[in-house]
Amino acid sequence: MCWIFAYKWDKEASPFLLEWLKNLEYRGYDSAGICEINKAGEFYIEKAVWKVSNLATKVENSDKELEWYNTWIAHTRWATHGKVTMENTHPHYSKNERFFIVHNGIIENYIELKKELEDRGYTFYGETDTEIVAKLIEDMFETDIETTIKKVFRRITWAYALGVIDRQEPDTLIWVKIWSPLVLGLAEWEYFLSSDANALARFAKTYINLDDWEMVVIKGNTHKIISLDSGLSLDKQIEDITYSEDNYALWDFSHFMEKEIFQVPEIIDNFIKWRIDFETLEIKSNTLEELAAKDFKRIEIIASWTSYNAGMTASYLFEELASIPTTVYVSTEFKYKKKFINTDTLYIFISQSGETADSLESLKVVKNKWGFTFWIVNVVGSSIARLSDLGLYTHSGREVWVAATKSFIGQIWVLLIMALYLGNKKDLEYTKYKEILACMQKLKDNVSLVLLESQKIQKVAKKYAHYKDMFFLWRNIQYPMAMEWSLKCKEITYNHTEAYSAGELKHGPLSLIEPSFPTLLINPEGRFTDKNVSTLKEIKARDGLVIWLITKWDKNKDLYDDVIEIPHTIEELSIFPVSVALQLFAYYAARELDREIDKPRNLAKSVTVE
Ligand code: M6R
Repeated sequence: MCWIFAYKWDKEASPFLLEWLKNLEYRGYDSAGICEINKAGEFYIEKAVWKVSNLATKVENSDKELEWYNTWIAHTRWATHGKVTMENTHPHYSKNERFFIVHNGIIENYIELKKELEDRGYTFYGETDTEIVAKLIEDMFETDIETTIKKVFRRITWAYALGVIDRQEPDTLIWVKIWSPLVLGLAEWEYFLSSDANALARFAKTYINLDDWEMVVIKGNTHKIISLDSGLSLDKQIEDITYSEDNYALWDFSHFMEKEIFQVPEIIDNFIKWRIDFETLEIKSNTLEELAAKDFKRIEIIASWTSYNAGMTASYLFEELASIPTTVYVSTEFKYKKKFINTDTLYIFISQSGETADSLESLKVVKNKWGFTFWIVNVVGSSIARLSDLGLYTHSGREVWVAATKSFIGQIWVLLIMALYLGNKKDLEYTKYKEILACMQKLKDNVSLVLLESQKIQKVAKKYAHYKDMFFLWRNIQYPMAMEWSLKCKEITYNHTEAYSAGELKHGPLSLIEPSFPTLLINPEGRFTDKNVSTLKEIKARDGLVIWLITKWDKNKDLYDDVIEIPHTIEELSIFPVSVALQLFAYYAARELDREIDKPRNLAKSVTVE
């Protein structure tokens, strides 16, 4: 699914580009490949299954000298069409080995194109849709590569970013962007194209965000961006890239996931500094002021998994604090569902990456019907942020590897602030508003205490990591927490976990309870404590094992098997310490099982295909 490209002119390409490819590995790590050409049109292609480090070893052991090549295309793959094999690894090439391409996205009409090409005598070495485009370029070639690609893109339907090199024009590089993300990084004498600006940070100082139906042509040391609709050259805005070495360093942590969980107190601290004035009890945000003035009567939230779970949490917050009825959809379903878009409804799109194809497509549908769209995104300048009407960044810092942790905290923080702000403009009692703000001031310490006790959580996680199945249960605002941490455990431990509202257990899932099927019951102090004790007793009556996640005051100590304790805070804020405790639980369970925590099997961080 994912790729990068580097292009250098009048200077030598160098092995640092492999280092760069590692920066993009989070977008797919099923296999990786590079193709390089020099000014004489001589080429070097290398591919490897699985990690970029496998590719790097092959490159190091080859007798080719990377310094010698000037033009590069490279790719890390998350398999869509065809198994994880060398044949299916990008770059792909034409029959005459003249055209080389890399591709992010899906060619929807590839079967039809393949049939046409087969009828004309082409054969295929692999199963990918990308190889078909390489052969189509050869088949449709006319005059030069730029003219050819302008014709070819009309034949292939839609959702891709595609990079092409032609050995007969070794100083030319062409990219086309339709729906899949693409940015052009600019440095002195160098061009970089990449699926996102994150990966460019070490190498380019500025970048241009490309929009759909645009084509980049780099010839020698000049570039132009052309609209594929009008054929005209475009003058696009150049933006700065911010780079911090800290984002790339693991420090003393074993995994990036661990580092990112331990960054949560710092993130909370930043949020507080930027947004809340505790003297005046004011939330400072021009964006929220503009939003409140619109007085929306309903909210619909659209997002995928972790971001969807943040949306589910927000539905409780918007309804309880701001009295606005809220519905939440997974974007994969929303996209194809009949829509009743109206001007009284606020449509919120939540996404860490800001590039998730399902959410992006849903956003476009709402915009086409004139719905008012609001983004909550982590990656600055990403597509969802650029396309929506208004929005807020979660400012959680660079989160690269698969499991969303600190970005989830950032999302629920922003959503809480929104609910409080809108509630305060409506009918939220001022004493409640003040109470929540006062507790928010202590939230950093509260979450830090959870981290300080991480060894206790590790002990429990080590024990339960060895159970293949597990339930996560809770009621009300903690229910999405159970969903989120069930997802986290699935992703990185590969154990089977299910999340339910605790009240639903007796309606069916209780039949699975037995000594080998434990339950994690989330029960911080609040309105639902007694009801949760009843659920706990129902499970114990059937010899089920229970981990009890509680605040320290708990009086039911003899009822459960193991405990994870968190410091007390009010009900609306308990989602923060609970999140961090369960992130640690999932992390330590995966560590006990010796999983590839930052790169779990079959997954990629940013899912830019439907
Ligand atoms: O970038 P997004 O927030 O839009 O991504 C949505 C999901 O793909 C993402 O949350 C995914 O489920 C993560 N792997 C969760 O840890």
